[in-house]
Parts: sequence; structure tokens; C-alpha cells
Amino acid sequence: MPIKKIYTEAYLLYDDGLHKVFWLGIEEADEEKGILTNQYMIVDGNEAALLDPGGYFIFDRVARNVISKIDPMNVKYIFFSHQDPDVLGTINLWYEETPNAKLAISSLWVRFVPHLAVTGTSRIIEIPDEGTRFKLGNSSIYALPAHYLHSPGNFSFYDEKSGIFFSGDIGAAAFPEGEWYLFVDNFNEHIKYMEGFHRRYMSSTKALKAWVRMVREVSPKVIAPQHGAIFEGENVGKFLDWLESLEVGIDVYEHLFRFRKL
Ligand SMILES: [Fe+2]
Ligand SMILES: [Fe+2]
Repeated sequence: MPIKKIYTEAYLLYDDGLHKVFWLGIEEADEEKGILTNQYMIVDGNEAALLDPGGYFIFDRVARNVISKIDPMNVKYIFFSHQDPDVLGTINLWYEETPNAKLAISSLWVRFVPHLAVTGTSRIIEIPDEGTRFKLGNSSIYALPAHYLHSPGNFSFYDEKSGIFFSGDIGAAAFPEGEWYLFVDNFNEHIKYMEGFHRRYMSSTKALKAWVRMVREVSPKVIAPQHGAIFEGENVGKFLDWLESLEVGIDVYEHLFRFRKL
């Protein structure tokens, strides 16, 4: 399905009256500029959190969709799964746009953030390797380890109230041009858009199995990745089973480490 106009707006994924989760839109023109990304926002009462707000060319749309739903002064946290450009390329713009927000990222990446013109570290929260819990309104958001999947300092975020697990690059799908959908319908058909990405970008089969074990303990209702489509219902279990059976990273690509006189 091609990207339709309606999907440029924020889309409500969860709403119980006090607690809401939004997906923050996509545009057809994004396809030519770089890999498509998903941005999310959690709102509890009058506090909000953004997750992986993304890169430069999507900033206008994401900011417009955030402002259409909340006052940017109410953004309490911006959560970053890792340090890639498609995750935090706009960190300096959000730093200005949401002056009350604390920026939470793996402790491994804190010293690198000033290179993106974010000065002063008083608004940066270092997430420790074992993860932590954030309070948003009356709800809890958990940062859970996802190290080596793919970045060495990498986190998933779990919103306990909605049951939505934000998995960052894990579960990412790269659609061919002209193909796109927000929710996975046929899991077996969806695999072909995920497989190559996971094999090459994820570092360690062992880390992947450990992450799957952890996610099963959490037992989320929904898994929402930073690229591709969202897993709901029985597709959550199918996705975890598929990941568990996958060999990735150095376990697949060790053969590349040879000196070739090209
Ligand atoms: Fe990444
Ligand atoms: Fe990504």
C-alpha cells in the first residue's frame, strides 16, 4: 500500500482517557530522503514523552504533530534508544523546542551528544546499563536493556499502562518504494522486509535471545519498532519466535574479516 495523505497526521494507538499513545505520522516524500522512521509520543495527564524523535528532514512534521496534541512545554522526557542519526539527528532542535524536557540516552553516548550542538549536560539523563524506570504523570515507563541490538548502548522502552513496547531498531522493516503499512497483517509475508536488516545490523545472536527472554517476561500487548510496522495480538508472539530462531551479526558475517588485496 502506498503512503496515503491521512498518515501525515498523528495517529492514536492507545487512549484510556488519561493516558494516550500517538504515532507521529509519515510522508510519501520521506521515502526519497532516507529510511522511513516511526516516531511516538506518550501522554499521561499533562506530561508527555517523545520516543526517538528522528532526523532532520522529518522535524517539521513531527513537531507539528506533537504541537497539535500537547503544549511542548509539557514534554518531560525525550527517550533515545541509541545514537543513530535517524534517532537523534534533531536533538539540538528538540532541545530548544521542548525546554522542560530531559533527554534520556545510554550512559555510553552522553559524551558524544555535545557534538550535535547540545551544550550543557544538566538536561541529559544517563540511562545505566541495567536500565531504569521513569515516572510520567501517574504512569511508569521502563528503559530495558537492548545492548548490541544494534548499538552497544541501546535501550527499549516499555509503557506499562498501554502495554506498548517500543523496540527501537529491533523489529525494523525496510519497505521497498511504494510499499508501506502501519500494522503487520500477514507476519510470514512481513519477514522478507525484516530479515536482511536484522542479520546485518544486529550484532549478536546471544544478545537477541537474551532480549527475547526479557520481552517474554514483560509480556507486552504491542511491539512498536522505529522502522516498519507495528506488531499486535498474535503477531507479537510470532515476531518473538521468529527472532529467537534468527542468526545475526558476527555469527553470520565472521567470514568478512579477511585481508583482501582488491
Ligand atoms: Fe540504528
Ligand atoms: Fe533506526
